[in-house]
Formats: sequence, C-alpha cells, structure tokens
Amino acid sequence: MSIITKCFCVFKIIQYYKIMTTLEVYIEERLQNQIIKIDSNNTNIEIFLNKGSSFGSNHSTTSLSLQAISYLKKEFGSVYTSLDLGSGSGILSILMKKLGTNKVFSCEIDEYAKKESILNFKSNFTNESHHPTFIQNPLEADYSYDLIAANISGSYLPNNFNKICKIINTDGYLIISGFNINKEHKYSSLAFENGLKTLKTFKDSPWLSIVFQKK
Ligand SMILES: C[S@@+](CC[C@H](N)C(=O)[O-])C[C@H]1O[C@@H](n2cnc3c(N)ncnc32)[C@H](O)[C@@H]1O
Repeated sequence: MSIITKCFCVFKIIQYYKIMTTLEVYIEERLQNQIIKIDSNNTNIEIFLNKGSSFGSNHSTTSLSLQAISYLKKEFGSVYTSLDLGSGSGILSILMKKLGTNKVFSCEIDEYAKKESILNFKSNFTNESHHPTFIQNPLEADYSYDLIAANISGSYLPNNFNKICKIINTDGYLIISGFNINKEHKYSSLAFENGLKTLKTFKDSPWLSIVFQKK
C-alpha cells in the first residue's frame, strides 16, 4: 500500500469516527399519515401528522415531552409564549398551540423537517393565524419565553444550557428531553447553577425528560 493510500485510509477512518461521534441524525419513517392521540387533563387532543421522515411521532423522547407539556398545562394553566427548540415534525408546537398557548415559536435547523412542520401546521389548523411561527437563532435574539421545550440529543443541550436558561422568563418553564436516565444529576446540577428548580421528571427507560421552573 502506497503512503498516499495509507494517508487516505487514515483520513477516511477519522472522518467516519467524527460522523459516528458528533453527527446526530433525526429521522423517523412515517410511511402513512398518522393521528397521535393525547389525553391531556381528560381532554382528548388529536394531532395529525402527514407521512414523512422528520423526527417526532412515536419515539419515547417525543412521548415524554408531550406528557411534560400536558403536565404543565394541567398543573399551572396556559402560558402566553413558548418555543419549540428543534421542532422536527412540529408535534410539540402543535400540542402547545392546541393547549391554548397564544404565541408558539418553532425553530429547526433541518430544512426538510421545517417543511414537514409547516405542512403539519396546515393540516392541524385551518386558520393560518393559528400556525406556530418559525424563527432562527432564538438563543441570540432579545426575546424570552414562558416555556421552552427542547428534545435534542447529544452535546447541544449541555453546550447551550446557559443560553437557553437566559431566554426563559422568570417563573417560566424548561422541558428537556433526548437523553438517558444516567444524565439526570448532570442536568439537575446545570439547572441549579442557572437558577432553575426541578418540578418533575418523566421516565421511560432508558429515556428521561425533566421539567424545570426558573426562579
Ligand atoms: C429529536 S428531534 C425532536 C423533534 C420533536 N421536537 C420531538 O420532540 O419529537 C430534534 C430536532 O432538533 C433539530 N435540531 C438539532 N439541532 C438543532 C439546533 N441547533 N437548532 C434547531 N433545531 C435543531 C433536529 O433537526 C431535529 O429535527
């Protein structure tokens, strides 16, 4: 094997290793349109999802996030403004809106997922004025929310935790999801450092979602 071939092989191995360790792929195969039924405080809510491949229908991290949003509505009532950080199919934005949040903002870095979110908004709300609004770079903007839901795995949450906490209003809520139960202490500590207290955890082993309140 020539030295050039050897170098190329090493380069490819490094590249493959980087992809395996840093790139988070969020895909769910929905071959058919689907209706997700949510029992929220004895009210049955239906969310229509068009067939597609954006994340956000059957995975446990999504279900735990839906439960957390329903819990907040049941225990503390409606919030005025919320952010769905990493909307995927748009399922969390849609639930927030259906539970009475006035202004729902959605953010998504994947253009295909964003398109699917928008299609799902259209299928769930006939009136366009009820659609959640897409925004970019909410962590850099001068706007804060009563509720942020972030179901994003990997290093995104720990790397951006401080910034996320800064754009939550006092007494507002943060729902995080997309990580394993063994990370509970790590996120509780991060939250404590940022003036958040833990309200509730939702578990479906090995997955965990945590609801915090900013004090
Ligand atoms: C695990 S999926 C969650 C989708 C949906 N919110 C749910 O709960 O099922 C994470 C989504 O976040 C998006 N995402 C990842 N990093 C992001 C970032 N920095 N800003 C916005 N969206 C991001 C991904 O493209 C993906 O669609």
